[in-house]
Amino acid sequence: MIVSTSTKSFIETQFPVSKLSKESYKERKAGSGQTLTGLGKWWGRKPLILVRAAILGLLFPASDDPQKDREIFLKLLTMDNEGLWRRKSKAIPLKDMYARLTQEECEQWLEPASGSAKPAFKKTVTRQDREALQRTVFNRLSYDEKLVYCDRPEQIDGPSEAAWGDINAHLGTDAQTLPDLVRQLGERQFGHVPRVGDAFCGGGSVPFEAARLGCEAYGSDLNPVAALLTWAALHIVGGGPEVAEQVRRAQQEVYEAVDRQVTAWGTEHNEQGWRADAYLYCNEATCPECGWRVPLAPSWVIGEKTRCIAELHPDAANQRFDIHIASGVSSQKMTAAKTAATVKRSALACPHCDQSTPMAMLRGDRRVDGNTAYGLRLWENDDLVPRPDDVFQERLYCIRWVETIERSDGSVTTRRHYRAPDAHDLQREDKALQLLRERFRSWQEQGYLPSRRIEPGYNTDQPIRERGWTHWHHLFHPRQLLVQGLLAKELSGQADMINAVACLLGLGKCLDKGSKLAVFQSAYEKVANTFLNQALNTLTSFGVRTMISYDTSWDLGITPTYHNHKSLNISEDARHVNMKSDIWITDPPYADAVNYHELSEFFLAWYENLLQSLFPAWLADSKRALAITGSDDAFRKSMVDCYLNLANHMPVNGFQIVMFTHQNARIWADLALILWAAGLRVTAAWTIATETSPGLKVGNYVQGTVLLVLRKQISDDTAFLDEIYPEVELEVKAQLDAMLALEDQEDPNFGDTDYQLAAYAAALRVLTQYKQPEDYDIAHELSKLRRRGEVTPIEQIIADAVKVACDHLVPLGFDQFVWKTLTPDERFYLKGLDLERHGEYRAGAYQELARGFGVKDYKSLLAGSKANQTRLKTASEFGAKILDEGFGASLLRHALFAVRETTRTGETLDGKIWLRTEGTAYWQQRKNLITILRYLSAMGLMMPHWQNDANSARLLAGALENDSI
Ligand SMILES: C[S@@+](CC[C@H](N)C(=O)[O-])C[C@H]1O[C@@H](n2cnc3c(N)ncnc32)[C@H](O)[C@@H]1O
Repeated sequence: MIVSTSTKSFIETQFPVSKLSKESYKERKAGSGQTLTGLGKWWGRKPLILVRAAILGLLFPASDDPQKDREIFLKLLTMDNEGLWRRKSKAIPLKDMYARLTQEECEQWLEPASGSAKPAFKKTVTRQDREALQRTVFNRLSYDEKLVYCDRPEQIDGPSEAAWGDINAHLGTDAQTLPDLVRQLGERQFGHVPRVGDAFCGGGSVPFEAARLGCEAYGSDLNPVAALLTWAALHIVGGGPEVAEQVRRAQQEVYEAVDRQVTAWGTEHNEQGWRADAYLYCNEATCPECGWRVPLAPSWVIGEKTRCIAELHPDAANQRFDIHIASGVSSQKMTAAKTAATVKRSALACPHCDQSTPMAMLRGDRRVDGNTAYGLRLWENDDLVPRPDDVFQERLYCIRWVETIERSDGSVTTRRHYRAPDAHDLQREDKALQLLRERFRSWQEQGYLPSRRIEPGYNTDQPIRERGWTHWHHLFHPRQLLVQGLLAKELSGQADMINAVACLLGLGKCLDKGSKLAVFQSAYEKVANTFLNQALNTLTSFGVRTMISYDTSWDLGITPTYHNHKSLNISEDARHVNMKSDIWITDPPYADAVNYHELSEFFLAWYENLLQSLFPAWLADSKRALAITGSDDAFRKSMVDCYLNLANHMPVNGFQIVMFTHQNARIWADLALILWAAGLRVTAAWTIATETSPGLKVGNYVQGTVLLVLRKQISDDTAFLDEIYPEVELEVKAQLDAMLALEDQEDPNFGDTDYQLAAYAAALRVLTQYKQPEDYDIAHELSKLRRRGEVTPIEQIIADAVKVACDHLVPLGFDQFVWKTLTPDERFYLKGLDLERHGEYRAGAYQELARGFGVKDYKSLLAGSKANQTRLKTASEFGAKILDEGFGASLLRHALFAVRETTRTGETLDGKIWLRTEGTAYWQQRKNLITILRYLSAMGLMMPHWQNDANSARLLAGALENDSI
């Protein structure tokens, strides 16, 4: 049986956004413990739990019992109470249990507290008792707290037998595993095992999770590095434990072969048999003011923990500095090492003459005909180190050695030593360079070392401009080229495709940690990654790892799983994908600031040779010209082409989910137009905080990911925009009411931004149900150049929808009637407090809210408007200002003033008298004032800065209630 297109799926009616945000955050926080990150660097990988929920949410048919649907859906994801208990992998420590137990429980199970002794179980408490107590306490924890003790859903084998009973009863299925269920639901809906594709697959989250759920998965990406990562996700991680073991052995063999050679060369060992695990280099430049050669670093602290520093000692005879290394130094010396930085605010700070020279001046950059001409000499292919007359020299100033010590009992331990290089070390530097020179040409010819030029670009200009590096291998130190070239040579001998890909990705991981763009982090005392952020930032001091510190980087850290092996992936432009999918889940580079095509060339320069022999059908090129990027009309056109192609490759009852970063109404309107023009219609939208938990929003710049759910546009209906407006209003209200009805008071599922987003989605749902409006040409709108500040009709509809939502969602305690008597400024302020109470400090959120209420000037209501510290003024912070017109003359402002007076004098009488004498129509407004004051009194609970005023508001509300003429 094939279900008709009118049957809604779960995700079109609801989605557990709050719980999923928490699960996504947990997955992100696992860092390198995430399932796919071990394969190598890709930017913006989507959490696997999100993909899992999206696929199941599409296949799960909505019934007419939304509460039951929700309960069963959470069971499927093991996000219900039983599922969480099943995922519990850590015991709750007694000290954390203590606070959750009642007085009687403590007396029953624990030793009476005495002095400072830690709580302990009574001797009579059995294992079973403890287990039961764990369960009792676990049930009392909030969702976030429970997660601390749980594995991720992907780390257990799905719902319990009992849960399957409930799931099957509700869905009319007969499944015992997720792939089983997916097959049955797919057969019901599409007539076969569902096919899920992603034509912008990046690091492979979508195809990987789809295949793990038993779907036939397809993944493609224009970029071959992304395609390689996806291939590895599907075939290596998805290959099960046998493949993982095979790969581990192959990688170990390559590692050992290289290690033997490096040991034989003796380039990483010293006379005492110690082995280096990090070499620290700095640039050195001549101060143009005094002519001294100055070693450059933004700090001379090497290790915070070991209290290791570098000290510059003037060598007047040679007009240079000796660098001494000292460990275990005093706090004063640590501070001095920090302040002795020779690079401050992008300028050389000369410790000899105290003069500062901007880096741009040092490089010799200058203006020519209104453009900047860069001053540095451009390196040639054969340049492996700076030439003696180059502006920036590279100087080895510290080596960290690892001494292996055999204890008297035969066991072995190691000790680390930071040392300045001696004459032998400098000889070894020369030797490493010499060894590299002897091999350089032939290794380049054979593709073991990169030979590509760096094409200029937004990110790739930086190394050219700031160091004169013109080829990708210039980003690496000779030691790195020697070791990484040797790794590339060894791995190229791998005959087995899976082993070869695994070793190539191992090399990629070493490259990320092994370039001159990798800083030595003094806080952790380790060499960091090149891509700490999404750029190619050059450094004045950097760390170089050696073979022993590659030991763990080389490992892919695979947690094997079994997959549907009918999965396929290629490197292909989304415009040319020729594969049919029932479901497309994509996360296009939309309004995304990552220049994948440029950054990936860092890896591609090393991979291209082997990649071509492993995947002859893929072009080992980043195909910059075809990469989707930017936001102009050409970009919109390529997006339409991509999505038109995908819509053409899905059945009438198929789905698409497009993920993108939640931004403003303009981005929404643009994307809606693109998808509408591609023949798709919106059915729902949800936003998941993929990078941060709501409580941690302060200081975090990453916003939520929107999941836009789409179906094929099959209607021929048209309408005038004027006719659409009232429909939008009704749809927005209906959507919000449905969400409110589902709300869980104990663990709220939706926040303010979710309701706003739902308003966007409702507006788009109404719009895109039409083929196109009568009086509106989508194609023309998309190709039009936009003027700054121009608001398109679609943007206007979306903005109006938010306005409807803002008015519809009355804050707790207000009734519609009172709410309607307030001015837009007052409503903005009151709703803004609600945002703040939920931990929202992003300037954009307040901006959007103001837009929603049509409030233009709200800055005077804010206490701070810095990027992530935006909040409204408290009653006291308003002081005695603005009491004459606009917001100043409003009822709310008068209430705030009265609160301020009460806080100031400690007497409600002052506030009350003020309201009676100065405020307008006190007796008519008294009820409204009380409502406002009661609302303000709730602010102290979550916001410490409101505590005094909230208390005053509470007292004042009481005083007004008891007031009589
Ligand atoms: C936001 S990323 C996708 C990340 C992915 N969802 C993941 O979880 O790793 C967008 C991807 O689109 C790819 N891309 C850019 N232009 C493309 C095009 N014309 N065709 C196909 N892929 C393209 C980029 O290489 C990048 O990997």
